[in-house]
Amino acid sequence: MARKKIIAGNWKMNMTPSEAVALIEKLKPLVVTDDADVVFCVPAIDIIPAVEAAKGTNIRIGAENMYFEEKGAFTGEISPAMLVDAGVEYVIIGHSERREYFAETDETVNKKVLKAFEHNLKPIICCGESLTQREQGITIDWIRQQIKIAFLNVTAQQAKTAVIAYEPIWAIGTGKVATTEQAQEVCAAIRACIGELYGADTAEAIRIQYGGSVSASSAPELFAQADIDGGLVGGASLKEDFGKIVNYK
Ligand code: PGA
Repeated sequence: MARKKIIAGNWKMNMTPSEAVALIEKLKPLVVTDDADVVFCVPAIDIIPAVEAAKGTNIRIGAENMYFEEKGAFTGEISPAMLVDAGVEYVIIGHSERREYFAETDETVNKKVLKAFEHNLKPIICCGESLTQREQGITIDWIRQQIKIAFLNVTAQQAKTAVIAYEPIWAIGTGKVATTEQAQEVCAAIRACIGELYGADTAEAIRIQYGGSVSASSAPELFAQADIDGGLVGGASLKEDFGKIVNYK
């Protein structure tokens, strides 16, 4: 069975709650499609108004982060149960900005992934290499390590519902999109790694996105690749362009 594409916006630290509602109102007629799952990952404070604004549409709301404990003395954190209760279905885990600025590691990513599954949230698990790593020729080794740690103790059943976002760090927010060949090569290697861990069924089912300066012009070729099942889109998800990316065909 063909995998359904999944195209997700990552709003990062943009949009106040009222701006979020206005953006969803503007984009909702533009992102209508039966061919892809469409997800808006929004700042925590925007989640409740975003869920409300997206009611009755094909837009699903995701979070950009969550904590790996159930509840308690973790000032400032958001629990998985809070996300579920608010109407969230997806959660980005381990974005490279979280790793760089907020000290997230492969180990905390793994804890968050396990916790997300416990609550039936679908994680969008991020991985990606730096420019130095690419230049040193260790991209695939690095990504395989990130994937293996992120999926520690994750069952095959759970892994089938996960989304992996391959985002080369040097391509994020830089306008420097990876070439189609580079993106396909790494996404194929990720699928092969999942195959080694879980077998062919799971590797065939899991969805792998490319992220990093995806635009209306680069999306069609990227999303046509055999192992690229959609995109995680930052800057362009805040604009009408997102409608073109969703309807890339
Ligand atoms: P970008 O961000 O599309 O602005 O490069 C992608 C991301 O960080 O998910």
